[in-house]
Amino acid sequence: MKIVVTGSLGHISKPLTEKLVQKGHTVTVISSQPERQSAIETLGATAAIGSIEDVDFLTATFTGADAVYCMVPPGNPFDHSHDVIASVGRLATNYVQAILQSGVKHVVYLSSIGAHTDKGNGILLFHYNAEHILQTLPSDVAIAFMRPVGFYYNLLSFVHTIKTQG
Ligand SMILES: NC(=O)c1ccc[n+]([C@@H]2O[C@H](COP(=O)([O-])OP(=O)(O)OC[C@H]3O[C@@H](n4cnc5c(N)ncnc54)[C@H](OP(=O)(O)O)[C@@H]3O)[C@@H](O)[C@H]2O)c1
Repeated sequence: MKIVVTGSLGHISKPLTEKLVQKGHTVTVISSQPERQSAIETLGATAAIGSIEDVDFLTATFTGADAVYCMVPPGNPFDHSHDVIASVGRLATNYVQAILQSGVKHVVYLSSIGAHTDKGNGILLFHYNAEHILQTLPSDVAIAFMRPVGFYYNLLSFVHTIKTQG
C-alpha cells in the first residue's frame, strides 16, 4: 500500500515507518525539516518536507495514498503560552480538509488513553476534541483511533512535575 506517515522521525513515526517499509509498503514521511530528508530516505521511505499546518501541502502529499497515519505534535505541554487545545483543533481540521480533498479512504489517528471523555482528563482533552473533529468525516472514510498509554522514554519531560508535585 501507499502510506503517508506524519510525525517525521518522532518516537512513534520512526519505528512505524521502519515496520511499514519492512513489510513492503511504499511510505512517505512528512517532516517540517529539510535536513531530515536523508535520514528519512535511509529508512527506505520518501520524504515530504512541509508543515501539517499547511492544508494545501497536506492535500498534495495525501493524494494517491491508500492510507494516512495522522498524529498531532504535542509541543511543550508545560509552555503555558502555547494553547495546545486550540492548536490541535486546528491541526485536526487541517487533516479533515486534506483527507476530503485528496480522497484518502483509510485513516489512522494517534489518539491517547483518556480520549473517551471530555471530563477529568486534563490536557488530553485535545485528543477527545480531535477525535470528534475527525468523526465528521463521511462514512466512506474508514478511520481507526489508537488510544495508547504512555511510553516510558517520555518520562524525562515530567521531571519538573515529579520534583515539584511529587
Ligand atoms: N509518547 C507517548 O507516551 C504517547 C502516548 C499516547 C499518545 N501519544 C500521542 O502521540 C503524539 C506524539 O507522538 P510522538 O511522540 O511520536 O511525536 P514526537 O516524537 O514528538 O514527534 C513529532 C514530530 O512531528 C514533527 N512536527 C512537529 N511540528 C510539525 C509541523 N508543523 N509539520 C510537520 N511535522 C511537524 C516534528 O518532526 P520534524 O522536526 O522533523 O518536523 C516532531 O519530531 C501526541 O499526540 C501524544 O499525545 C504519545
